[in-house]
Amino acid sequence: MDEKKDILILAIESSCDETAAAVVKNGREVLSNVISSQIALHTLYGGVVPEIASRKHIEKINQVIEAALAEAGVTLGEIDAVGVTYGPGLVGALLVGVAEAKAIAYAAKKPLVGVHHIEGHIAANYIEHKELEPPFLCLVVSGGHTHLVCVKDYGKFEIIGRTRDDAAGEAFDKVARAIGLGYPGGPKIDKVSKSGNPDAIAFPRAHVEDAPYDFSFSGVKSAVLNYINGCNMKGESWNQADIAASFQKAVTDVLVENAMHAVREYGIDKFAIAGGVASNSALRDAMKKACENKGVHFYYPSPIFCTDNAAMIGVAAYYEYLNGTRHGWELNAVPNLKLGER
Ligand code: KG4
Ligand code: ZN
Repeated sequence: MDEKKDILILAIESSCDETAAAVVKNGREVLSNVISSQIALHTLYGGVVPEIASRKHIEKINQVIEAALAEAGVTLGEIDAVGVTYGPGLVGALLVGVAEAKAIAYAAKKPLVGVHHIEGHIAANYIEHKELEPPFLCLVVSGGHTHLVCVKDYGKFEIIGRTRDDAAGEAFDKVARAIGLGYPGGPKIDKVSKSGNPDAIAFPRAHVEDAPYDFSFSGVKSAVLNYINGCNMKGESWNQADIAASFQKAVTDVLVENAMHAVREYGIDKFAIAGGVASNSALRDAMKKACENKGVHFYYPSPIFCTDNAAMIGVAAYYEYLNGTRHGWELNAVPNLKLGER
């Protein structure tokens, strides 16, 4: 009798400022996860410069893939499919990964599986929670997205809420810049907030009328800017840690409230978080507490699987591969790809 063969995915991610490659076995076991971060480079400019990101991806991608295969102890010949993020993201950055994945798949005669970046973020939860299976609810909070998603099955999603303006991570980054913390803002606000008072300043908690699962973060961002301007005009000093902690609390309060509303209405007792902002310690604590109160199982990836990485793309590609998703050589970068589109 045939022994069940392991399925190995080589995954590539280059949608923003991390050049990443990974090898994932049977969808849940990460054999390698190599990330070359460009953060130090973009810090000089206070944010991601798309042209620089693309050039760095080109420089690093071969090395990163080679390292991922070597660390996993796997040859290209042993790979079952090549998975790659083809959207959403920066078009020039995405193109580097897509072109590379096509070249490898063509040369090694392997199937090509294009992956939606957000599907990857959600799939990051499968790595450390072997028991987690759809259906579940997931809050995706990254630099570019804030989505409340019902994961109905592998690769099947219903977006039940989204931001009307800024993404949560974008708000963190802008506020960090305003209070002199610089880029990348999220982790810095997380850190200084620990020495601040989250109740010091009452920043607004915006709710969108008739859309209980939608978000809006431009108001709280403006409120922070107004608060600082007001202090400056009156010649008063302001406290960086208190502003950071109060802003962080205002954002997490809304994220948790809307999430718990969805848990109630959908009657699903599994809730996950994903994306760069999901590594925020205040959000993790608040969400954990809220889920415990409701008797809901709470899932979250380790920080390394929250921010951009290729292991999560490998997991998503595995389930897409099982579902029969195959892309041809015409696969292109799609900067505004919608979740669930193929
Ligand atoms: O998922 P990600 O790495 O890239 C995108 O797909 O956008 O998310 C990056 C975002 C940035 O806005 C960054 O400031 C934010 O995630 N972030 C955090 C934390 N770590 C990263 N935000 C709040 N707290 C953190 N600890
Ligand atoms: Zn991301």
